[in-house]
Amino acid sequence: MNKSYTLGAGSMFNNKKLKVADNICLTLDQGMCLGLVGESGSGKSTLGKMILGLEKPDQGEIRFEGKDLVTMSKKERLVVRRKIQTVFQDCYSSLNPRWPIYESISEPLRNFEKLSAREEKRTVQELLVSVGLHPEDIKKYPHQFSGGQLQRISIARAIALKPKLIVLDEAVSSLDVLIQHQILKLLDELKERYLLSYLFISHDIMAVRSISDQLAVMSKGQVVETINCKDPLSSMKHPVSKQLLASILPSHPRDRNKARLTPSKGEMQEPFLETNVQQRIVRSGQTC
Ligand SMILES: Nc1ncnc2c1ncn2[C@@H]1O[C@H](COP(=O)(O)OP(=O)(O)OP(=O)(O)O)[C@@H](O)[C@H]1O
Ligand SMILES: [Mg+2]
Repeated sequence: MNKSYTLGAGSMFNNKKLKVADNICLTLDQGMCLGLVGESGSGKSTLGKMILGLEKPDQGEIRFEGKDLVTMSKKERLVVRRKIQTVFQDCYSSLNPRWPIYESISEPLRNFEKLSAREEKRTVQELLVSVGLHPEDIKKYPHQFSGGQLQRISIARAIALKPKLIVLDEAVSSLDVLIQHQILKLLDELKERYLLSYLFISHDIMAVRSISDQLAVMSKGQVVETINCKDPLSSMKHPVSKQLLASILPSHPRDRNKARLTPSKGEMQEPFLETNVQQRIVRSGQTC
């Protein structure tokens, strides 16, 4: 898949093209988590937006359950829309501060499902419980919750329609480390319970590795390296990956060895828990 943005007409950029997706070829199997890391501006969010249908690639396919998201009809897209949800860093983009959270969580249900008022209320309360909140919280407003609780509410909204894939873009980045661990653990539990697949985008390689099965490193619109999260981060070869690692690893060699022992997803312990943008991108169950 390829995607460029045209930079400022008539400005110093003189319609120069900025490549933000350059022959990206990634595969995500159903029930798996693909982590996407990379420096700021490398094109991670743009890739997420293309999967969500918020941006269009210039060329290439994004296959989801065997169907190309780019060329499918509006009607087909509507069916798929409920299967691909998102959680952003800024929960206020999905939670209206003027609404009690009941309204925000039930909105997708009202748009896509015909439930009685009673069923709807029960579903919203069950969703709150499944993200570790209290059923009575439905009456509260966003300002009455902490950042971690708000992210739980955003997650409840994202799973309301029983999606297959969730694009999590910097979903834990604004939270402090302890709350990050709790949300990552919750995401991992929900993934198992609801057979979800995640595209987990973050600049935080440790957070990404702790939840992902595969980790892809992006730089300047390209995926420069992909590793299995069971492998040590030190097995990464590309200079950009090494640079990302250097930014988190302690400088003393003895401490570096310790850092390498940080558990990956397979070894997760409390409390710490990893597209042909030519041919394929998201594989949920089948080839994409
Ligand atoms: N709508 C747009 N028009 C023009 N350029 C854009 C647009 N959206 C993003 N860009 C540019 O494309 C590049 C990739 O942006 P993107 O948001 O995908 O990066 P990112 O990897 O998510 O970065 P970060 O880690 O900072 O979130 C950046 O240089 C950005 O300025
Ligand atoms: Mg981004």
